[in-house]
Amino acid sequence: MNSHLAVEANNLVKIFGSNRAVDGVSLEVPAGRICGVLGPNGAGKTTTINMLATLLTPDGGSARIFGHDIVTDTQHVRQLIGLTGQFATIDENLTAMENLRIFAMLLGYSWKDAKTKAEELLEEFGLTEAANRTLAKFSGGMRRRLDLAASLLSQPPLLFLDEPTTGLDPRTRSQMWGTIRRLVQSGSTVLLTTQYLDEADQLADDIYVIDRGKVVGHDTPSGLKQSVDLSSLHLQIEDADRLSEATNIAERILGESAQISEAAEISIPLKRSDQLTDVLIALQHEDIHLTAINVQQPSLDDVFFALTGEVTTYEAAD
Ligand SMILES: Nc1ncnc2c1ncn2[C@@H]1O[C@H](COP(=O)(O)OP(=O)(O)O)[C@@H](O)[C@H]1O
Ligand SMILES: [Mg+2]
Repeated sequence: MNSHLAVEANNLVKIFGSNRAVDGVSLEVPAGRICGVLGPNGAGKTTTINMLATLLTPDGGSARIFGHDIVTDTQHVRQLIGLTGQFATIDENLTAMENLRIFAMLLGYSWKDAKTKAEELLEEFGLTEAANRTLAKFSGGMRRRLDLAASLLSQPPLLFLDEPTTGLDPRTRSQMWGTIRRLVQSGSTVLLTTQYLDEADQLADDIYVIDRGKVVGHDTPSGLKQSVDLSSLHLQIEDADRLSEATNIAERILGESAQISEAAEISIPLKRSDQLTDVLIALQHEDIHLTAINVQQPSLDDVFFALTGEVTTYEAAD
């Protein structure tokens, strides 16, 4: 048991009928960090989160939240976590302010403190202008923001965000990202699921890639990119007559075959970044001049494809 870990899951399993929806997931989230669980629709993200949040009982394995067992110490665990999507709107005909304020009072705030807190949160989520509008008039994105605001009322040390930005427009997404970063700066720990590779890349300190109920990769965003050996070197040669000569040099040093684009750019896999220098020195030695050099890191989409063999699909979860 390690209390520096906000989440410590060992081999969690959840079976629905004959479907092993979560098939032995182990993960660790150090306190104060943002951990991303990345995977396509149906990978088992929500089921994993629901087990960690004590909404579903595991069929196998175990997990602790700040050292408290999710099965035998459920009450403690519930006091330490917040989960989005759990804000049952009290009344569609009440305003955003009224809903938040009542929800805050249910959590033990006084009527006066509930107002202050609700105002703060509405401001933080850009909902001040909509504060006095009834929820019936709220868009999907506004509801999502109100939901996250409500999940912050109890100031939980650990927050589960299940696809917090799926289906949101780009502006609202980046607002959400800012809010999530600020939350962590103020001491919270976040476990978020996402099917957006760029979201995991932007936010997470650590990413678990899951596919069909299993963890298929775990690293930092940059570690994941490096681990799949997909960096490539792109060179533009000044003198077009020396293109094939330059290509031969790069191929010989890197031990890979190059491709030449219509714009006469040489592209070649670069497995070890220190070999870049060797290529440049060899070209200089032959008096071949470059007009452009560029080392491209793989995108997380490339990584995902390398790990799962699947092209990612960005489907809305709801
Ligand atoms: N309550 C349930 N009953 C039966 N099957 C379920 C239930 N919840 C999820 N599943 C199935 O478990 C798998 C994982 O689902 P889920 O955890 O929702 O994936 P994700 O959140 O990654 O999209 C899917 O095949 C889904 O159909
Ligand atoms: Mg889900």
